[in-house]
Amino acid sequence: MNLVIIGTGYVGLTTGVGYATLGHKVACVDVDERKIAELDHGSVPFYEPGVQAALTDAQEAGRIMFTTDLASVMSEAEVIMIAVGTPSTSTGEADLSYVEAAAKQIGTLLKHEAVVVMKSTVPVGTNRRIIQVIREAMKEAGQAELTSLINIVSVPEFLREGSALDDFLQPDRIVIGAEDKIAAQTIDRLHGNIRAPRVMTGLESAELIKYAANAFLATKISFINEIANLADRVGADVRHVAEGIGYDHRIGPHFLQAGIGYGGSCFPKDVSALEQISGSNGYGFKLISAVIEVNNRQRDNFFKRIAHTLGPLKGRRIAVWGLAFKPHTDDIRESAAIDITRRLLASGAEICAFDPEASENAKAVLPDHIEFAPTAIDAATGAEALIVLTEWPEFQNVSFSTLKSRMVGDHVFDGRNCLADHNLSQHGFQYHGVGLCS
Ligand SMILES: NC(=O)c1ccc[n+]([C@@H]2O[C@H](COP(=O)([O-])OP(=O)(O)OC[C@H]3O[C@@H](n4cnc5c(N)ncnc54)[C@H](O)[C@@H]3O)[C@@H](O)[C@H]2O)c1
Repeated sequence: MNLVIIGTGYVGLTTGVGYATLGHKVACVDVDERKIAELDHGSVPFYEPGVQAALTDAQEAGRIMFTTDLASVMSEAEVIMIAVGTPSTSTGEADLSYVEAAAKQIGTLLKHEAVVVMKSTVPVGTNRRIIQVIREAMKEAGQAELTSLINIVSVPEFLREGSALDDFLQPDRIVIGAEDKIAAQTIDRLHGNIRAPRVMTGLESAELIKYAANAFLATKISFINEIANLADRVGADVRHVAEGIGYDHRIGPHFLQAGIGYGGSCFPKDVSALEQISGSNGYGFKLISAVIEVNNRQRDNFFKRIAHTLGPLKGRRIAVWGLAFKPHTDDIRESAAIDITRRLLASGAEICAFDPEASENAKAVLPDHIEFAPTAIDAATGAEALIVLTEWPEFQNVSFSTLKSRMVGDHVFDGRNCLADHNLSQHGFQYHGVGLCS
């Protein structure tokens, strides 16, 4: 099929490359000229494993192209996907201005039958509103007789940054929400080569599935963090508790890693949006409010523990390992690591940071007086304390005796418990994890 994808970010580009890999012909559109120019020259503007090689293959096969000019690719489009951002507003609702702008552009330019797919994460009721926006714009553009041939299908995306392309090609399920059966079948066929259960449903259910999935995962994280806080008080080890409950197949082992809580471009905004959706429908979703509160408190507690252990932070040299919101990505949106680093800097600490992929993005948002080092060991050289904020696997391969010899202090605060198995006390460190009774 011929596809147009509006928005060439983490989701739009990965799914665009994914659909091209499945054999479709894809045009990716973005308003960001620099991004499109880079992609046109064959290079991926962010770090996402596997996407570069798949992009090269798709470009060589002539199955993907990039443009800032939506009008130039519309006439061929059988399916038009919206994959623009839906960030949080200051009050926690989803900002739908990018989705609305894309919908108006589609309506203004569309002159033939097509299916519009919503990939962006949008609150319940949005798809129904957006198809009206498209139809109104079509009427204004003199295409009133075509409006009944345009349908919208909600296909929420569940890929995870860090394994996005694999997640797209081998998803746990594909959710297809639609009113129109034919449009739903078209979108089912689009995914024909992907073996995964299909959830064929209505628009509202598809929209709610996405929020419910992210909110449930966030709940697991806040739950295990509460258990970690209790473990600290009763002398238990949260890792053993997580293992012990995770073998129960009704619970499962995933998302049971205690630490400084969730961040990223999805969980915080989607959990807040679900709280807003509930509130605006007259329902107080108590559990979700507690999940948010626990997540915020987890960062506070970790920071307080550092400040309490080290004393006044002004002028103290501290190393930070990890700034991305999770490993295997350069994405720092809503990163707990960035938040804690900001607090350390605001307290007067002299920070030297290292992240394998996210340093450039972090430089753009952190105050100028932070230093960045080219390696983890360099960041820690001369530091009184080391703070680990993202669990990059390579931090486990550092020589801890070299680390000890380079640092002037001996405190390691591990916000992800990723060094807990390395017996740092044997190397002369004072190790502080989360919920490890250490
Ligand atoms: N990032 C994830 O892991 C993930 C996973 C699942 C779902 N989602 C959802 O997918 C959506 C996109 O997320 P993302 O992380 O890819 O965002 P992103 O910020 O990386 O990309 C959005 C892109 O849309 C472009 N854009 C905005 N308005 C446009 C317009 N009118 N025309 C063309 N391009 C336009 C922006 O320039 C940007 O490049 C969000 O709703 C998000 O919640 C994200």
